[in-house]
Amino acid sequence: MAKFSALASILSLLPFVVAQSQEWGQCGGEGWAGPTTCVAGTTCTFMNDFYSQCLPGAATTTTTPPSTPTAPASGSGLNTLAKANAGKLYFGSATDNPELPDTAYVAILQNNAQFGQITPGNSMKWDATEPSNGVFDFSGGDVIASFAKANGQILRGHNLAWYNQLPAWINTIPTTEVGAALTTHVTTVVDAWDVINEPFNDDGTWREYVFFNSLGSNYVSMALTAARAADPAAKLYINDYNIETAGAKATAMLNLVKELQAANIPIDGIGMESHLIVGEVPAASSFISNWEQFTALGIEIAVTELDIRMTLPATTALLAQQQTDYNSVVSACKAVAKCVGVTIWDYTDKYSWVPSTFSGQGEACPWDLNLVEKPAYNGIVAALTT
Ligand code: XIL
Repeated sequence: MAKFSALASILSLLPFVVAQSQEWGQCGGEGWAGPTTCVAGTTCTFMNDFYSQCLPGAATTTTTPPSTPTAPASGSGLNTLAKANAGKLYFGSATDNPELPDTAYVAILQNNAQFGQITPGNSMKWDATEPSNGVFDFSGGDVIASFAKANGQILRGHNLAWYNQLPAWINTIPTTEVGAALTTHVTTVVDAWDVINEPFNDDGTWREYVFFNSLGSNYVSMALTAARAADPAAKLYINDYNIETAGAKATAMLNLVKELQAANIPIDGIGMESHLIVGEVPAASSFISNWEQFTALGIEIAVTELDIRMTLPATTALLAQQQTDYNSVVSACKAVAKCVGVTIWDYTDKYSWVPSTFSGQGEACPWDLNLVEKPAYNGIVAALTT
C-alpha cells in the first residue's frame, strides 16, 4: 500500500486534519496519520501496536508496547495449512478499525499462522476515503494497511466502485462530471483492489446507481483502466455475491469478463463473496464447476467475504451443519488451482455484520462471541488438511 501510505503522510501535513482527538478517539498506532494528542481531560493510552485511544482521565496503562508480543501458534493455523497443505496464497479475515482496541481480538487477528491476509471491512470504501469531492482521507485505511504489513499479511483493498457507502456528493454533481470523479478516485486510491463491487442484480441485469446511470456499463472499463494505470502491479478484481454457483448472475459475470478481455480491458480476478446460509450450501462440486468456468478464461478467483449464517438460536445440529458447509466452500477453493485464497468476513461472531443486517440471523463465523473456535473451524481445518 505504498501509494496509500505516501498520500496519507502528505495528508497528515494538511491543515484540515484536526489537531487533537476527541474522547474515545484514536490518537496513535502504526499507520495512524491523525492527531496524536487528546483533548483536555483525556489521555492518549496505548491499547496495542495499531491503536492508541483518548481515554477519560489520566493514563492507567503504559504508553509503550508490551515487551512480549503474542507468539504465533505453531504450524496448525488456517493460513499455515492453506499455504503448506493446500497450495493457496493465504487464508484471511476481514477486520475493521473500531475492533482494534480489543486486545484479545487483535492477538488472534495478528497471528500469521491463522491469517495471512486482511481486508478492511469499511475504512477503504469511498465514503471513508473521499468524503468530499477531491478531499482524500486515508488515515483509517492506513491503520489497517500498517497492521497487515507489520504482521506479514497480504492486503486486499476493498472497494472502489460500489453502490453502497458512497458519499452524498457523488449523487449531486452533474452527470457529466461523474466519469472524471470516478477516474480521479480510482487513480488516487488504488493499490490491489476490488475495483468494482456488486455490479449486477440477482437476475444478471446491471445494477442501476450513479455510475451505471451516468456512464452505462462502460464505467467498469473506465475504473479498471484507471486502476491499472495507477498501479500496474495491482491485481484488479470484480467482486459480487450470488455468483458462487451457476445461475443468471454468474453467467452475467462470465460474459462481462469475456467482453472485457475481448476489449483488452485489464481484469485479473473475480471475487466470490460467499455470504451463505447454513443448510443451503451445496456440495463442493457445485462451486468447483462454476469457478472453473471463470479460471478457464485465464483469470484467478478468490473467496472474498465468506460467512455462513443461521437463524438464531444456534443449536448443536445447526453448528454441525455449519461445519459441513464451511468444509464444502474451503474444499472447493482447495480443489481449484486458481482459487488463490479464502477470506472470512471477520473471524468472530463478536464483530460479524450479519446480526445487524439480517434480522434474527447470526453465528456466521468460525469463532464465537468469546473468540473460541466453533465446529466450523474444524470444518475448515479438515478441508485444508485432507
Ligand atoms: C459490510 C460491512 O461488513 C459492514 O460493517 C457495513 O456496515 C456494510 O458493509 N458485501 C461487501 C462488503 O462487499 O463491503 C459488505 O461489508 C458486506 C456485503
